[in-house]
Amino acid sequence: MTDTGIPRPRSGSVLLSVRQLKVQHRLRPRLPFAPPVLLRAVDEINFDLRAGETLGVVGESGSGKSTLARALLGVQPVAAGSIRYDGQELVGRDARGWRRLRREIQMVFQDPQGSLDPRMRIREIVAEPLEFLCPEIAPSARAGRAADMLACVGLGPELLDRYPAELSGGQCQRVGLARALVVKPRLLICDEAVSALDVVVQAEILQLLRALQAQTGMALLFITHDLGVVRRLCDRVLVMYFGRTMEHGEVRTVLTHPRHPYTKALLASLPGTGATERATFLRGGEAPDVTVPLTGCLFTARCPMADEQCPRRVPHTHRLRDGTAVACHYVSDSWAPPIRAA
Ligand SMILES: Nc1ncnc2c1ncn2[C@@H]1O[C@H](COP(=O)(O)OP(=O)(O)OP(=O)(O)O)[C@@H](O)[C@H]1O
Ligand code: SF4
Ligand SMILES: [Mg+2]
Repeated sequence: MTDTGIPRPRSGSVLLSVRQLKVQHRLRPRLPFAPPVLLRAVDEINFDLRAGETLGVVGESGSGKSTLARALLGVQPVAAGSIRYDGQELVGRDARGWRRLRREIQMVFQDPQGSLDPRMRIREIVAEPLEFLCPEIAPSARAGRAADMLACVGLGPELLDRYPAELSGGQCQRVGLARALVVKPRLLICDEAVSALDVVVQAEILQLLRALQAQTGMALLFITHDLGVVRRLCDRVLVMYFGRTMEHGEVRTVLTHPRHPYTKALLASLPGTGATERATFLRGGEAPDVTVPLTGCLFTARCPMADEQCPRRVPHTHRLRDGTAVACHYVSDSWAPPIRAA
């Protein structure tokens, strides 16, 4: 295989392989009868994920993380590119083709309350996937398995007969996680799955995910705003900015020696960094317009390193010696000084 600039998973078999993935949202035109406007939410994303591995996806709000997750799950149409799961192409697969895979690929959605059926009790919500996806499990065993899974995510039996509206945001998040995990998926996609949890429960959930990975070899794609969670949970991290990959590599390398100016800005935005220090990593420019054709680097308006070439040439993603992929004209193989660990 030719070198695509994509950091290689450390070892083991690749379960998910994404190439040149593009997803566009159709926006309503401002004027009647004008043609629809296409927003490039995911633009030429590439990565591999192997069994037992965790890939973190980070980026500011609107960078396309949830759109990417929905495309991987087959609920968001793909404009171009390929998503191969266990050697099979997922793009263009019909509902029948997805049926078998629903058990293997599960997702925890970003909106914990909205993703749970308000008319169902918690015990039914968690047991329901077993009924549809695991016919080998006897109906009499489903309730017990659902209760066990809820206990694993730290929810007691007193919640079993409640409805989602009677739970806190953090409890709903854990119900969503239990519902996804109860069928023992091979690939779990988590979209901000621990954001509503306090630090103690969050640490327990991360520990549970790691334990399940060690037991089952589950692969995890973990979308989060929290770089601390990335540091604790993930093997590799992909940094997105308005649909495109800015940097992608091993967590310990990217978070301690960020190369891309946007990764440096993300790290500098962590609490504890002074305003003056932050200003050296981020200019106060506008967010890019991803409805117009791409002509240069998306980060130009906010990048303190930008020069006259940046708005005129789209940077290629190139791989550095340590395996990190970076999309910036001016990042070379020299090591950047560390900013701070997340
Ligand atoms: N159904 C939709 N129709 C039109 N535009 C959409 C739709 N869903 C998302 N978008 C737009 O696509 C872009 C990416 O959205 P997305 O929800 O994927 O971002 P995100 O990285 O998950 O953000 P957040 O961190 O806030 O959850 C945004 O500009 C958003 O406004
Ligand atoms: S290509 Fe230019 S604008 Fe983009 S990150 Fe690099 S220096 Fe900044
Ligand atoms: Mg999102």
